[in-house]
Amino acid sequence: MTTDPIRVIIDTDPGVDDSMAILLAFNSPELQIEGLTTIFGNTGTAVTTQNALRLVELAGRPDVPVAAGADKPLLRPFDGGGWMVHGRNGLGEVSFPAPRGTPIARRGAQFIVDTVLANPGEITLLAVGPLTNLAIALALEPRIAGLVNRVVIMGGSATVPGNVSAVAEANIHNDPEAAHLVFNAGWPLVMVGLDVTTRTIMTNAYLDDLRAIGNRYTDFIGQIVRHYHAFHQQQGLEGIYVHDSSAVMYLLDPSLFTTRDVYVDVEYLSPHLRGYTVADWHGKRQVQTRATVCVAVDSPRFLELYRQRIATIR
Ligand code: RIB
Ligand code: CA
Repeated sequence: MTTDPIRVIIDTDPGVDDSMAILLAFNSPELQIEGLTTIFGNTGTAVTTQNALRLVELAGRPDVPVAAGADKPLLRPFDGGGWMVHGRNGLGEVSFPAPRGTPIARRGAQFIVDTVLANPGEITLLAVGPLTNLAIALALEPRIAGLVNRVVIMGGSATVPGNVSAVAEANIHNDPEAAHLVFNAGWPLVMVGLDVTTRTIMTNAYLDDLRAIGNRYTDFIGQIVRHYHAFHQQQGLEGIYVHDSSAVMYLLDPSLFTTRDVYVDVEYLSPHLRGYTVADWHGKRQVQTRATVCVAVDSPRFLELYRQRIATIR
């Protein structure tokens, strides 16, 4: 039996792990990529937009539109991002030629609104960066909350500590007001957070095997991952986390994940708790809204699927 591919807009801040996720997505027949919208996060939006253009070209899909998104969080200045993790150019300080393509004239949030309105019930929003574009899209056209197929985000942590503060994950921390709006919009939302992304580690041996495949995807990953890998080693990890690929994997095979439905709110008022994703496990708030939160993952099967997909370019 064949099923129609999932039509997806990827909202992203590439970024090393974003790049790995985007190449996985392009190489997966389950997905039809309608466009990339860009956001600040790992570095500024001007740079992530150039990287998104590079990635659609590397994937052999320069026809896929790239729309530049917001330059800064809704209410705060952008603090410069995760360049220590991803390099100042977001691609591990490796120089690549300028992309040939250019972004479309519409901004990211407008592209999301137009695409969702034109395809009611069809479009999945896969957000692997700060949630500013999604929040602006909701403000531009609140009806999209009832018209998306679903929203899948890499962000937050419901059962484990944060990665940029004691409680907060980077994507949520970067724009907590936007995340608060997105988590409370009432649309079907899947949270793929640190609860599962830190359970899947590409070890040094795994990365060596990936490099040995020697196609254009693994060559690119092999180059850009060095800086990201070194950062993880400094943190004491013999390998790397592949956060954003986890959200793509959820779309490819949700059976890889164990989930629980729970109301999740985002703290944005307290400086110390900024970006804390608070899961109401015991239903104290009596709110109807529920997020589907990934709480466990079958990492061996995940890693094998990633390797298979990246090894054979479609
Ligand atoms: O916390 C992990 C997230 O922050 C990932 O999306 C990574 O790309 C960074 O933006
Ligand atoms: Ca990201």
